[in-house]
Amino acid sequence: MRHILVTNAKGGCGKSTIATSLAAYFASEGYATALVDYDPQASALSWLAQRPEDYAPITGVPGYESGLKGVPRTAEYVIIDSPAGTRGKELAELVRKAETIVVPVLPSPIDIKAAERFVEELLEVGKVADKKAKAALVANRVKENTLIFEELDAVLSRLKVPYVASFREAQNYIRAYQRGLGIHELPPYLAWPDWEQWDPLIEWLDSRRSQPKG
Ligand SMILES: Nc1ncnc2c1ncn2[C@@H]1O[C@H](COP(=O)(O)OP(=O)(O)OP(=O)(O)O)[C@@H](O)[C@H]1O
Ligand SMILES: [Mg+2]
Repeated sequence: MRHILVTNAKGGCGKSTIATSLAAYFASEGYATALVDYDPQASALSWLAQRPEDYAPITGVPGYESGLKGVPRTAEYVIIDSPAGTRGKELAELVRKAETIVVPVLPSPIDIKAAERFVEELLEVGKVADKKAKAALVANRVKENTLIFEELDAVLSRLKVPYVASFREAQNYIRAYQRGLGIHELPPYLAWPDWEQWDPLIEWLDSRRSQPKG
């Protein structure tokens, strides 16, 4: 069973958007998938409530109430969405549940500063420090050819966590979210540019680089 945690202490950086699309991706690839929502606002679970019945099923789990208890034993992929402000003990607690961590970061001066601090903190969490969990950064809501993206790109490239993908700002994410779908479930003529941007993240997740040794 693989546990992928999507986290960043900063609010609004795309945690739920990325967590839901990841869950939809693995489910549509035929894997038994659970989506665990640690945010008491339950955005990921309300996304799931919109999901049409004829799409690959995902088991929703209210992690904010009862942790991973509701995850079926047969689940192959467990995607964990976390609330804004996750740091300190709560962060360590969530990291304990995952082998792989995805950290979305927005191209804004405040978010870039916050990401630098968050990565420092993440690297100090025992499990990450001991390489028992592997993390990666993803730039999100990127507008290419902007100075602020260049800055984000430069900062993320020199942090001590691999920077594996960048996703553009696109209505597709909003459309997919409203319909309970992942970005990979939108029609190709709309979403192919986004799929291309997801490929390096999927590749990283499929590789040993995103998993602890042993
Ligand atoms: N790549 C994108 N392009 C356009 N809009 C996006 C993209 N990623 C996220 N959004 C939008 O940004 C807003 C915040 O995204 P989301 O809710 O996923 O962030 P979050 O990190 O889960 O927030 P919170 O910290 O409140 O849980 C949402 O309105 C979402 O639709
Ligand atoms: Mg959220």
